Amino acid sequence: MSDHDQVKMTPMNYDKDRPKAENPVKIEDLTLRDGHQSLFATRGRTEDMIPVAEMMDEVGFWAVETWGGATFDTMHRFLNEDPWERIRTLKRYIKKTPFSMLLRAQNLVGYRNYADDTARAFVDRAAANGMDIFRTFDALNDYRNFETVVKVIKECGKHFQGCICYSMTEPRMGGEVYNIDYYVKKAKDLEAMGADSICIKDMAGLIAPYDAYDLVKALKKAVKPPIHLHSHFTSGMSPMSHLKAIEAGVDIIDTCMTPYAYRTSHAAIEPLVMTLLGTNRDTGFDIRLLAKINEKLEKEVLPKYKHLLDDSKVSIIDINVLLHQTPGGMLSNLVNQLREMDALDKIGEVYKELPRVRKELGQIPLVTPTSQIVGIQTVNNVLFDDENERYKMITGQVKDLCYGLYGKTAVPIDPEVQKKALKGYERGEEPITCRPAEVIEPELEKAKKEIGDLAVDMDDLVLYAIYPVTGKKFLQWKYGKEEPPASVRPITLEDVEKRDALVKKALAGELVEKKKDAPEKSDNARKFNVFVDNEYFEVNVDPLGGPPVINIAGAQLAAPMPMAAPAAPVAPAPAPAAPAPAAKPAPAPAPKAAAPKAAPAAAPAGGTPLTAPMPGMIVSYSKNVGDEVSQGETVVILEAMKMENALPAPKGGKIVAINFKSGDTVAKGNVLCVIE
Ligand code: CO
Repeated sequence: MSDHDQVKMTPMNYDKDRPKAENPVKIEDLTLRDGHQSLFATRGRTEDMIPVAEMMDEVGFWAVETWGGATFDTMHRFLNEDPWERIRTLKRYIKKTPFSMLLRAQNLVGYRNYADDTARAFVDRAAANGMDIFRTFDALNDYRNFETVVKVIKECGKHFQGCICYSMTEPRMGGEVYNIDYYVKKAKDLEAMGADSICIKDMAGLIAPYDAYDLVKALKKAVKPPIHLHSHFTSGMSPMSHLKAIEAGVDIIDTCMTPYAYRTSHAAIEPLVMTLLGTNRDTGFDIRLLAKINEKLEKEVLPKYKHLLDDSKVSIIDINVLLHQTPGGMLSNLVNQLREMDALDKIGEVYKELPRVRKELGQIPLVTPTSQIVGIQTVNNVLFDDENERYKMITGQVKDLCYGLYGKTAVPIDPEVQKKALKGYERGEEPITCRPAEVIEPELEKAKKEIGDLAVDMDDLVLYAIYPVTGKKFLQWKYGKEEPPASVRPITLEDVEKRDALVKKALAGELVEKKKDAPEKSDNARKFNVFVDNEYFEVNVDPLGGPPVINIAGAQLAAPMPMAAPAAPVAPAPAPAAPAPAAKPAPAPAPKAAAPKAAPAAAPAGGTPLTAPMPGMIVSYSKNVGDEVSQGETVVILEAMKMENALPAPKGGKIVAINFKSGDTVAKGNVLCVIE
């Protein structure tokens, strides 16, 4: 027998004399939530979880994470699935293993702090629908944001797991803000709040193995609740950190099934099972059962998702995390945002500006939603600031943060930035110091009035209260008031086969089968770009009978091209509705194939246009056609990367055209409205 700190080994035979460990490491499986959120843009469908659900119930996991995080958003927005239904469905297959969800404290499963009535209703409904363990975190580690939800979790008799978001300002743990004393203090706060377990939430894979050892040792000494380590693989360190944490006596570790493991996700379970085999901390898991589950996932499920995997790089480790201490998902979001704005060459400036913006905004941890808040503000600064003025376009969320609406920041916000952000801020120019939800008006009654009978029960109402724009759209699909677009339909294995065959043919240059006796290509043949779903083909079109003739105002003109450009409209015409929202996950990397961009709206014939400075979704117009506006007054709220941007009127005058409506997707440069 050899000793490795807390881990003791005895040689043995896997099948015959595997002893029951005296203190097995408990495992939470994240495949069904964080796994597909990290690797497959949170697009996992319930129907693709069912094939393995019963087998997973047999493994012996401490818990399976099935819900929360970004799933609530993507399910109703992109998958046309009722998020509440997923819990109930999976419960029919997974009967023994407790369900765990990721709860963003007062942010619930959204991106801002909600009112207490919404928060209470949400937790109550999640518990009633079958949730057992509420892994709760606050992006600022401000536990005043836990108060409302924890009370309901406890009232419902459920497990409250309190998280400490693991953050750093130095290459390793320590420094002035995020040192070991900081974490010990946070753990004691959680214990005092009645935490049933305490989780170190290392969302960016920042924790280094020896820091994990020191931290777990210190926490085990300081507090009684079990210690749980959630460390993403992103930087490549997590399997080593897991082992050091186990040596320091950690109680619970998070892993994924192999096809959902590594990259920005988590380490796989199988190597850990083997590593601990025969020790006093043996998981006791049957590696053959795990292999069976993996095989089923590989064959029956993953073919439908593999196109979402960001395999633009061969390397599965993101070195940027080690260099910049920023979450991998956040960086890929920034890259996508810059790409959509044709500004990818600015990425170096973004890396440079990011730590500065973070410091000015109170050195906050970078996790949803703060990673987006800091990230998008950084992009805005890089794109719109000049040498005379910084923070030219401040997002609504940064204003909220400066006001104190997210809570207390780790260090005070830069007073100058704060003052600028709060100039003319609707809630007041003086920041608050109380618990944020205390200044948020109750929301449910108002939501009920707005949505009316379309919300049939409390689950519908809560969904609408958290996501008014996309939630309403979903309820219209759910109750047959509107036909859901093709983009939200599931794909089948047959679809995948067809797609793969098509790609194969295209690659082999056989996409268009040659007809016998093909005619000679004439000089009239023109090249066209053809987009089918997310596939792109270049085809030659040769019009039969010579060039086409186009009839314009009675005069026959032989068109020099097969298709004439459409005549420019005389007045700013309403733009056609944009296609379905661009596939835009958060914080997981965007799928490679982005939805088509909206065509630029018609150019105005007169008046001053307000154009979209970035691609996004219209949240609302604060003005109607015919309204007078003064220069600088907010006219449109545009959501880009989940952040709301208030777009000011470029000049004073009268609104003569509004080209989009709430919920429409717009491209950069689209004319949102015209002022005369
Ligand atoms: Co995670």
